[in-house]
Amino acid sequence: MAEQLAIAATADKAERYKILLPQIASLVEGETDVVANLSNTVAALRQTMHFFWVGFYLVKENQLVLGPFQGPIACTRINFGKGVCGASWKEKKTILVPDVDEFPGHIACSSDSKSEIVLPAFKNNEVALVLDVDSDKLNDFDDTDAHHLEQVMRIVEKFI
Ligand code: SME
Repeated sequence: MAEQLAIAATADKAERYKILLPQIASLVEGETDVVANLSNTVAALRQTMHFFWVGFYLVKENQLVLGPFQGPIACTRINFGKGVCGASWKEKKTILVPDVDEFPGHIACSSDSKSEIVLPAFKNNEVALVLDVDSDKLNDFDDTDAHHLEQVMRIVEKFI
């Protein structure tokens, strides 16, 4: 396992993701503990992309329950279909929200959160967890984030 993350010295988001992705794959390689791997994955995302909040919510029975995250404290449980996370779980797809105030039912864990992207990861064709990334700026996520974070989820699916 790498002891230090190499972070691209560029403001180019796609470039930063490209350098990060293989490092996340190598960080989790050879480790089978799910919590350890999810923890390092969010830490690497936060360190590289400087997200305001980034974390996992795990499907446990009929709710999403807060898992490893980086950022301010957050809501611990989210019901099926509720908020952006619950909607991503229900619809089994990535949801990008440029302005959280415009998303019906958005759950405001922090009033500083202005835009958000949520992506599901699957196990046996069912959503096993979602990755939630929040920004304190409006319209902070785009297709570049969706594309690369979806690749992070494909890495996550190998160890969950
Ligand atoms: N805003 C999310 C809830 C989780 S927190 O933002 C960390 C939602 O609407 O699902």
